[in-house]
Amino acid sequence: VVPKFSSLKDEDDEAEVDSGKTKVSIFFGTQTGTAEGFAKALAEEIKARYDKAAVKVIDLDDYAADDDQYEEKLKKETLAFFMVATYGDGEPTDNAARFYKWFTEGNDRGAWLQQLKYGVFGLGNRQYEHFNKIGNVLDEQLNEQGAKRLIPAGLGDDDQCIEDDFAAWRELLWPELDQLLRDEDDANTVSTPYTAVIPQYRVVIHDPTVTSFEDNYSNMANGTASFDIHHPCRVNVAIEKELHKPESDRSCIHLEFDISGTGIMYETGDHVGVYADNCDETVEEAGKLLGQPLDLLFSIHTDNDDGTPLGSALPPPFPGPCTLRTALARYADLLNPPRKAALIALAAHAIDPNEAERLKFLSSPQGKDDYSKWVVGSQRSLLEIMAEFPSAKAPLGVFFAAVAPRLQPRYYSISSSPRFAPHRVHVTCALVYGPTPTGRIHKGVCSTWMKNAVPLEKSRNCSWAPIFIRQSNFKLPADHSLPVIMVGPGTGFAPFRGFLQERMALKEEGVQLGPALLFFGCRNRRMDFIYEDELNNFVEQGVLSELIVAFSREGPQKEYVQHKMMEKAAHVWSLISQGGYFYVCGDAKGMARDVHRTLHTVVQEQESVESSKAEAIVKKLQMDGRYLRDVW
Ligand code: 2AM
Repeated sequence: VVPKFSSLKDEDDEAEVDSGKTKVSIFFGTQTGTAEGFAKALAEEIKARYDKAAVKVIDLDDYAADDDQYEEKLKKETLAFFMVATYGDGEPTDNAARFYKWFTEGNDRGAWLQQLKYGVFGLGNRQYEHFNKIGNVLDEQLNEQGAKRLIPAGLGDDDQCIEDDFAAWRELLWPELDQLLRDEDDANTVSTPYTAVIPQYRVVIHDPTVTSFEDNYSNMANGTASFDIHHPCRVNVAIEKELHKPESDRSCIHLEFDISGTGIMYETGDHVGVYADNCDETVEEAGKLLGQPLDLLFSIHTDNDDGTPLGSALPPPFPGPCTLRTALARYADLLNPPRKAALIALAAHAIDPNEAERLKFLSSPQGKDDYSKWVVGSQRSLLEIMAEFPSAKAPLGVFFAAVAPRLQPRYYSISSSPRFAPHRVHVTCALVYGPTPTGRIHKGVCSTWMKNAVPLEKSRNCSWAPIFIRQSNFKLPADHSLPVIMVGPGTGFAPFRGFLQERMALKEEGVQLGPALLFFGCRNRRMDFIYEDELNNFVEQGVLSELIVAFSREGPQKEYVQHKMMEKAAHVWSLISQGGYFYVCGDAKGMARDVHRTLHTVVQEQESVESSKAEAIVKKLQMDGRYLRDVW
C-alpha cells in the first residue's frame, strides 16, 4: 500500500475546520518568557471574547521541524499574531532565530501570503541601538510578502512599562477582531468587560519520603544529547579567584567551569548561559514572606485534578517534586521589580482591603506614574514589595505562575579559547553590588553566586551550576593574516582574552598572524587592571602587537578607550583599510555607543568625507562582518 502523505492533514486544522471556528495562531519568540506570557495572555483574552476563535499558542521553534515545511504551513494561516523580542545587538531570540532567518531571507517569494491577516507586537528596549528591530522587520516583511497588517506593529519598551505598551496595542486590536470574529448574533449583545485571568499552577504537597528530582541534571553527552537553554548541563566550578587588586573596593571574578567529560563544545567568542541560585539570605527572606517552611516538598502542574488544562501559565519551571528552598533558589526571580501582572495577582490575595486597593491602583492605568516611580524607579524588589504588603500572601501555585517570574540564566562572553582550555569554560564577571534608592543593597544574583562559589580546588563538595553554550558570530577572521583591532574596557576584555589565547595557539602551530591591537580601559592601574600579567605576556609573545590602556581615574581627566582610539586614528584606519576587523565588547549604552561614534569620526577624518558617507562606510563594515559587537 502506498501511503497517501498528501491526505495527512494537520489534526488541529481539521478539527477547527469541522467545528466552523476560525483558527487564530499566536506565535512567540521569547528569551526570558515575557513574549510567551504575552502570547498566552492574548490567547486567553481572544478565547474569552470570541466563541468563534480556535486559538493556538506556538513556540516558533516548534512550528516546523524542517525549514521546508514553513511555506506550506504559513500558507494555511489566515489570522496570526507574532509576539517577538529583539535581543542583544538586534538579534532574534534563540527560539525564533531559525524561522526569522528563513522568513527574512526569502525575498523572492512574491506576494504569497495574501490569505493572511496579521499583527506584530515587538518586545525591546529603547536604550539599545536596534530597538525592536526583529518586530519591525517581521512586520514589514509580512506586509511585503502580501499579508494584510491588521494594526500597526506594537513596539514594547522594557525600559519603561512594556505591559502598558502591550495593553495599548491590544486595545487597538479589538475593533479589528470584532469585525473578523464576532458572530452576527453577538452584534447586539453587550459584552461583559474582560478581566485578565491570573495564571496559576495546581500544587501538590508531597510527603518528605518522596525523592525530589532536584539534582537530576544530565551531564553526560550520550552522542545525541545537546545542551541548550532548556537542557543545561550540570558542571562543577574548578577555579574561582578575585581579579581586582586589594586596593580596589569593587570585585571582579575569574571563574572556570570544568566541562571535561560532559560533551560540551564551544568556540572562541561564544557565550555561556549560567543558571545561578539566589543566595541563602534572599531565599530565607522569601520563605518567611510566603509564610511557608523551606523544606516543604511540592510539585506544580498545569492541569486540573480532572486532567483539563489550566492553560494560562507557562510550562512549570521544574518537572517534579522540589523543596521550597530549591524552588526559590533556582527558579524564582525575587530581586527585580515586580511586573504589574504580579501586583494584580498579589492584590487578589491581599486580606487587608487597603493593601488590595493600593496594589490594584499601582497596576492600573491611573497608577502609571506611581508604578513607574515607586516600583521601577526606586528599584523595589519583589521581596521588598511583598514585605510592604504583608497581608498579600499568594498561594504557591499563584506565586510561581503569576508573581515571581522565573529566574533567568545570565550570559557571559566566554573568556577562554578551547584551543587553550579544551576542558574549561572561563568567565570574567564583575560583581553587581550597591545600594538602591530605598537603601536596600542590591546584590546581582549570578555575580554574587560566582563570588561565593567554592571551587573544586578548595573542596570536593564544590559549587556547581547548570550551564549551556550560546553560539555567537563574534569570531576572529578566518584569514589569520588580517589585522584585528579589539576594544574592550573592563569585563569587555573577556572575549578578547579568548581571541588572544587562540592566537597564541595558532602562533605555536606556526601560523603567520596579522597585527593585533587591543584598547583596554579600567579605572586605575593599581586597582582593576585585570589580567595585567597575561596581557604583558601576550605582548611579549608577539600575539598582541600593541596594548593601549586608558585609565579613567588616574589623572585629572577621564581617559577612555575612545580617546585613545582618536589618538591612534591614522593607524586604526590604515589597519581596517587593509582588510582588518574591528571588534567592540562591553557596555552597550555608554561605551559601545561612544566607540561607534568615534569610529564614525575616525572614518570621516581619515577619508576626508562627509558624515553621511562615513556612515555608509561604517555600515558597509558592519554588513561585511568586519565590524563586530558583543555588547550588553
Ligand atoms: P569610569 O568608571 O571611570 O567612568 C571599565 O568599566 C572602564 O570603562 C572604566 O574605566 C570606566 O570608567 C570606563 N567607561 C565608563 N563609561 C565609558 C564610556 N562611555 N566609554 C568608554 N569607557 C567608559
